Parts: sequence; structure tokens; C-alpha cells
Amino acid sequence: MWQGEHTAFAERSGMMETNSIYGDHLPEMKKVMNDIMSRVGDARKAMSERLGMDPVEHCLCRIKSEESMREKCRRRGLPETTESALTKIYDSIGIRIVCAFIDDVYAMVDYLKKFDDVCVAEEKDYIKRAKKNGYRSYHMILKTASGYYVEIQLRTISMDTWAALEHHLKYKKDIKENQDLIADELKRCADELASTDLSMQIIRNMIMGDLT
Ligand code: GTP
Ligand code: MG
Repeated sequence: MWQGEHTAFAERSGMMETNSIYGDHLPEMKKVMNDIMSRVGDARKAMSERLGMDPVEHCLCRIKSEESMREKCRRRGLPETTESALTKIYDSIGIRIVCAFIDDVYAMVDYLKKFDDVCVAEEKDYIKRAKKNGYRSYHMILKTASGYYVEIQLRTISMDTWAALEHHLKYKKDIKENQDLIADELKRCADELASTDLSMQIIRNMIMGDLT
């Protein structure tokens, strides 16, 4: 369950219980999450002032729910412990940054890489190299100085729409018929959207040419 900025996620989801898989780390995890969210907010302000346009369409964050984290530990063959949740699985804290344009995605990636107190533990560019099903997104795992991992997904609005629909279709229904056709159509849509993203970027470059 993803939230907008500044939401009291842990309290609302009842995750302050003492038997949480996150042990007593939740308050610190929330701080880390809010800190990165507020840095993203700073970048948006600075870039908006420079370019006259907010590079981020929206930004969401979440702490992985207790059930999802336990399920992921089991799926990975890991014990359901705080150590697994915080040091073996890297998306206990998740942030999703959705931009209108591809160049803005990469501008945000560059910005995030410049933090002195955070290092990049892993990077996957599924925009340059889309997954076989057509999924596109830029994934980064950041590790904070305090030792927490944060998964950041950056994508365009089109990529986000596609991922949401594909996720919905994949998980909401046990598809038995037309599986290959559905997969082919989803891939085709992903490629069409990617082509439109490129066209929109070219149009923006033509319009904003003198500002970038
Ligand atoms: P997990 O973290 O267990 O998912 O494995 P991984 O680290 O190999 O995953 P990866 O970095 O490829 O993807 C991490 C997250 O990206 C997932 O949890 C999803 O939120 C999202 N994601 C990856 N692939 C897809 C996909 O094909 N469709 C959709 N809708 N989302 C995806
Ligand atoms: Mg992952």
C-alpha cells in the first residue's frame, strides 16, 4: 500500500506491535523514508525553479507490510527475522518516483546518486533494457549510513500506468485462457507507450530547447 508524502504509515497499519518482523526499527525506518522523500521534494523545487516545470508527477512511499515481508522471506527461503527483513531483503522501505518525461527520470537518478551519506547498492535500468514482458522502470537500491536499504523505483507516467495494470491483471485473476495472447498484447502496449514517451521527450526538447 503506497502513500503520498508525510503520512503516518506505521501507526495506521498497526505495525508498532512488539512482535513486528522489523523489531523496534520502524520509527527509524520511517525517518529514513521521510528523509529521502523530503530530499526528493527539495530536488523538485530546485528543478521547478530552473526549468519552470516540476520534474516529478508524483512520489509515493511505503514500508513493506508485515505480511508481505514475511511472505517474501518464506519465498526466498529465509527465516522470518528482523535480520532477514533489514539485511537480506532490500525493499522494506520503498519509494516510487513518477515523472512525466524520461529525461526527468534520469535527472532524478543522477540527483539521488549524489547524496554523500547514501551509497548505491544496486542499480537496474529496465528502461534501457526492458524486461521480457515489457516492464520498464529504473530501480536503485540505496544503503543509508545508518545501514537501512531503500528501494527506489523511477519511471514515467506511461510506465507507471502499464505496471499498475499489468500487476492488477497478473495478481487479481488466475488467468487460464489466452495467456500467450494477453502476454503479447501487454508487451505490444508497453512498446507503444515507450515509443510515445520518446516522442513526448523529443517534442519537449524542441519546445524547451533554449532552457535545457
Ligand atoms: P523482488 O524484489 O523480489 O521483486 O525481486 P528482484 O529484486 O529481482 O526484483 P526487481 O528489482 O526486478 O523488481 C522489484 C520490484 O519492481 C517488484 O517488487 C515490483 O514492484 C516491480 N516489478 C518488477 N518487475 C515487474 C513486472 O514485471 N511487473 C510489474 N508490474 N512490476 C514489476
Ligand atoms: Mg528487489
